[in-house]
Amino acid sequence: MSEAAALQVDDLGVRYGGFQALEGMSWSVAAGEILGVIGPNGAGKSTCMAATTNSVKHAGTIRLLGDDVTKVPTAELSRRGLRRTFQQNAFYGELSVLENASSSLIWGDGTGLAAATFMPLRERRSTARRISAAGELLDRFAIPRMYFDEKPSDIPYGTQRMLALALAYASAPVALLIDEPAAGVGGTDMKALADKLKMLKAEGIALVVIEHHMDLIMTVADRIVVLDRGRMLATGTPQEIRTNEKVLEAYLGRAA
Ligand SMILES: Nc1ncnc2c1ncn2[C@@H]1O[C@H](COP(=O)(O)OP(=O)(O)O)[C@@H](O)[C@H]1O
Ligand SMILES: [Mg+2]
Repeated sequence: MSEAAALQVDDLGVRYGGFQALEGMSWSVAAGEILGVIGPNGAGKSTCMAATTNSVKHAGTIRLLGDDVTKVPTAELSRRGLRRTFQQNAFYGELSVLENASSSLIWGDGTGLAAATFMPLRERRSTARRISAAGELLDRFAIPRMYFDEKPSDIPYGTQRMLALALAYASAPVALLIDEPAAGVGGTDMKALADKLKMLKAEGIALVVIEHHMDLIMTVADRIVVLDRGRMLATGTPQEIRTNEKVLEAYLGRAA
């Protein structure tokens, strides 16, 4: 399809035992574009992210910058610039906020600060650089410095969601899949998240954002895919989706 696609999936399908959680899902996202993914609970949104990052067995193909990466393992995909955040926060609970940030950065020798703690002295010289790079990463996501030495679970929830985004961003990915960034956060944090998503878009990262908050997704997304019971119900601009009869029916019909 589109030559401009940073990330493209075709005919994605996932079965959990006898249950078809996802079927025939195809979409692409270009550099500097935000693709929104919406749909009722259980529609298959998180499964779609798991499949795209090869963390679940799936049918269909995945292309990153035109290369077929369908068989590339999750960790290698991350190194190649395809990363995701999780619906539930996933941090190293024993490490501080700053150490988590340092561990997320990819270094020439492939180690993060967790490993560096046990390094001989001469190797720690580069650790100072890691710490300053980690600090800069957190600064970019407006994580207050007073939280740097705290454990992630001890900082405010809205800041944790922002930390999750910073850790996934780490060393400037090609494509970032973000699962419900605003889950459980209030108005001010929501605004901050929307601003950061726009910042990442402006940097030329291809973004796929799953989100329940319609206001947020309608504001930031360039295009939206609607999933319902594992199938694509509709795709279009926010304006098209807002007025799509099938979408209204799926949402309003279910709410009634
Ligand atoms: N590991 C799993 N094993 C079995 N069923 C699963 C698993 N993960 C998700 N499901 C089921 O697949 C469907 C889609 O789940 P999910 O992708 O989490 O939906 P969403 O993120 O849209 O809420 C749901 O019916 C869910 O119960
Ligand atoms: Mg989900």
